[in-house]
Amino acid sequence: MSASRTRGTKAACSFQPGLLRWYDHHRRDLPWRRDRDPYRVWVSEIMLQQTRVAAVLEHYTVFLLRFPTVEALAQAPESAVLAAWSGLGYYRRARMLWQAARKVVEKPAAQFPQTAAEWRDLPGIGRYTAAAISSICFGEVAAVVDGNVERVLERLAGKRLSPAELWQGAQAQISPARPGDFNQAMMELGAMVCLPRQPKCAACPLRSFCRTRGELPAAAKVPQQRRETVHYALALRRGEVKLVQRARSQSLMPGMWDLPATLAKGRPWLRLRHSITVTIYDVHVYRVAVRRGRWVETSRLHEIPLTGLARKILRKAGIW
Ligand code: ADE
Repeated sequence: MSASRTRGTKAACSFQPGLLRWYDHHRRDLPWRRDRDPYRVWVSEIMLQQTRVAAVLEHYTVFLLRFPTVEALAQAPESAVLAAWSGLGYYRRARMLWQAARKVVEKPAAQFPQTAAEWRDLPGIGRYTAAAISSICFGEVAAVVDGNVERVLERLAGKRLSPAELWQGAQAQISPARPGDFNQAMMELGAMVCLPRQPKCAACPLRSFCRTRGELPAAAKVPQQRRETVHYALALRRGEVKLVQRARSQSLMPGMWDLPATLAKGRPWLRLRHSITVTIYDVHVYRVAVRRGRWVETSRLHEIPLTGLARKILRKAGIW
């Protein structure tokens, strides 16, 4: 065995207990950590892919009350799943989750996949999600790399790492006895201690292994934020609001419901900000009549897959 390999193995042995001990004491009590039910963990991992924990917390419990089992999810119409996803964004994830649920229940005895390789056969499940579910629920020794783990590993190494180095590095460190906890501990450390800016190094259980202790120099330019002004009509009549459905062929939020756009100008009735990826929208809402669209009863809005922005406007206007 080479000297560097010996060092690597030794480091891995001594780094795991401290990390796991820290996780046992400091982990957040999150609802998806209360059991190892594959359906619940799967839903949480899909929600957490592009959404902050605080936003997921607002939706996770409600989503599971509405669809408590994979069978309930598979039997629901797609539009009901999208409606329950409203506010989480990146709706493609919800469509894929629903498609995957239908595939799971088609199998004899509606068996969940167990290994990461089997999970990856389902729509919407990539390397990260497959490893997260199989390690947490089935104890497979499969490491995960997400943005948080990447930052932790790069700071430990004191340099930027390629994707292959990151996955190999994570796999080399994972605890074979507690792979799911190890993965969650790495993510938790990145989320709570090894922060992108001003990391809390004094509180870090890995500080004696860390070559950086602080921030690495920025890797690349932060993407430029764009600003755009958009104009929407809020047309109301007794208990109804006018909505338009986005074309199924649209790449962004296909088939979802929006307020109609308008060319109205002047002082808006309502103004708000809304961010989607790198664009900050200055949203102007006018109380004007529009021809386009369909009247929808406001009491039925919760059944309809609305875009996050439409929901925000309707909330702010006191209609939702
Ligand atoms: N991010 C995504 N899944 C997570 C998990 N299970 N624990 C901590 N952070 C996560």
